[in-house]
Amino acid sequence: MTQPPGLERAPRASLVQLRSFEAVVRLGGVGRAARALHLAQPTVSTQLRELATALGLVLFETQGRSLVPTEVGKRLAQAVRAMGAAWQGFEEDAAALQGLRRGRLRIAAVTTTEYFLPDLLGPFARKYPGIEIELAVENRDAVVARLERGDDELAAMMLPPSHLPLARWPFLENPLVVIAPAGHPLSGRRRLKLAELTGEPLLAREAGSGTRAAAEQAFAEQGVAWPQRMALGSNEAVKHAVRAGLGLAVLSRHALAQDPANEGLAVLPVAGFPLRRQWHLVWRQDRALSLPARTLLDDLRARLRVKARPHGWSQ
Ligand code: PGA
Repeated sequence: MTQPPGLERAPRASLVQLRSFEAVVRLGGVGRAARALHLAQPTVSTQLRELATALGLVLFETQGRSLVPTEVGKRLAQAVRAMGAAWQGFEEDAAALQGLRRGRLRIAAVTTTEYFLPDLLGPFARKYPGIEIELAVENRDAVVARLERGDDELAAMMLPPSHLPLARWPFLENPLVVIAPAGHPLSGRRRLKLAELTGEPLLAREAGSGTRAAAEQAFAEQGVAWPQRMALGSNEAVKHAVRAGLGLAVLSRHALAQDPANEGLAVLPVAGFPLRRQWHLVWRQDRALSLPARTLLDDLRARLRVKARPHGWSQ
C-alpha cells in the first residue's frame, strides 16, 4: 500500500499565511477575515502578498470592488481546509487517548450479576488500567434509585424501570429456575407443575429484589398463589437456606454452580421454567456517556457477540 505523502515537500507558505488566506476566501474580504482573526487589516494584506510571492501564484483577482479567488486560489483554499480537517481529527484522537488514560467509570449492578460481571469487565480493566471502575452492587430497587439520582453511567439489570429515559442493551440471558435441596423427592420427577410445589415453603429474596419481582409476576401469570415463608437478603443466603432444607426458591441460573449438585442443590423441572429473562445494560439518554463508558460498551458488544454465555451450562 502506498503511504500518503508526508511533509517532505514542505509548503513554502506558513500556516499563519494559509489561515489568513482561507479566511479571506471564506468570508469574502480582507476586512472581515482580519476581524475574525483579530488581526489588523494591513497584516492580512501583507500575509496574502507574501503567500502569493512564496508560491509564485496569483491567488485573487478583483472583480469590481470585490476580491475573488482565482481557480488556483480556490484549489489552495480546499487544500487548506483538508489540512484543517486532518488536524482536527488528530486533536480529537489525542483528546480521546488522553481521556482513556485516566478517569473513573461508575457502574451499578444488581446483585445476581456479581457472579459474572467482574469477569466481563476484566479485559477492559486490564486494557485501561488508569480508569478506576467503581462497581456498586445492590438489589433492583436500589439500582433504580441510583439511576434516578444519576449516580452511575451504566447499570446492569433485568427489569429496567419505564419512568426514566433509558437506552438499553440486552446483553445476556438470565434464566430463572426453581431450586430444591439435592435429593429432594421432587427432584426425581420428570416434569412438575408449579401448583404442585406450593405445599413446600417458598424462600424468597428480600423486597426490592428483581428476582423476587420476576418470580411473583410468573406465579401471578400462571394463577398460582405461593406465599413466601421467609425472605433472605442475598442469593447466597437463599441457597444456604434451600440446602438446609428450609424450602424451595426461584433463583437465577447464574447464581448456581455449573453442576448444582456440587453445591447440594437441584434444579426442578417445572413447567414454564426456566423463566427466560434478560439482563440489560442501561444508561440515561438525557446524559452524555463519557468516553470510558462508550469504550466499555463497544468492548462488551464486540466480545459478547462471540461469547453469549459466561458459563458452559445448558439449562
Ligand atoms: P436482584 O437482581 O434480585 O439482585 O435485584 C435482579 C436482576 O437480576 O435484575
